[in-house]
Amino acid sequence: MERLDKIISNLGYGSRKEVKALVKKGLIEVDGIIVKDNGMNIDPENTNIKINGEEILYRKYIYLMMNKPAGVISATHDSRDETVIDLLEVDHQVFDPFPVGRLDKDTVGLLLLTNDGELNHRLISPKWHVDKVYYAKINNNVTEKDILAFKKGIILDDGYKCLEAKLEILSNSEDNSEVRITIQEGKYHQVKRMFEALDKKVIYLKREEFGGLYLDEELEEGEYRELTEEELSILQSY
Ligand code: URA
Repeated sequence: MERLDKIISNLGYGSRKEVKALVKKGLIEVDGIIVKDNGMNIDPENTNIKINGEEILYRKYIYLMMNKPAGVISATHDSRDETVIDLLEVDHQVFDPFPVGRLDKDTVGLLLLTNDGELNHRLISPKWHVDKVYYAKINNNVTEKDILAFKKGIILDDGYKCLEAKLEILSNSEDNSEVRITIQEGKYHQVKRMFEALDKKVIYLKREEFGGLYLDEELEEGEYRELTEEELSILQSY
């Protein structure tokens, strides 16, 4: 059970004060009865709510795909920097979404946001081996030897041995390479530290895939959209 004004406000129909005004005008119906008390408690899953005669679609969770730009933080709050939540419209912010895992401030690409804590937990748990695919530019010549090292498991600076990871070379020269990396973990600065362990530096990093979902090429950096039913069902299969 939840307060009616909170439910309606969270669905993006205005502030609680505005909802109160709608109630006062007799514009809100619950199961066919005009509401008198904006603070009444209802079970939103099993109640028919109408505003101005129109039934509203209740939903508890939202699932968003963002093309994260560089320069913003993958967090809900930050005292200094802009966060990915600041990039959302208020209609989506009211659901209190948070990023699923983190991308570094300078990393771009696919970031999921949701308020579904259970799904988030499954997607970031190492237990489920969710694939994350990155495109990277490296300041050095990436070689077959590096591919083998990724396969064997890179040892990071803190002694942690990474799971087997896939490294593909897209192009390379003496002082520059483009690569694609597939990892199933999400340690702090993982991709950058994997290359550091090989004395190489990541100079650009973009996430292209997450758990079978591909970054929508139509999304400019900083833009986002809701997941399709199909995309959501892929995630829910974890
Ligand atoms: N690995 C990194 O080093 N940074 C990211 O943002 C993601 C993976």
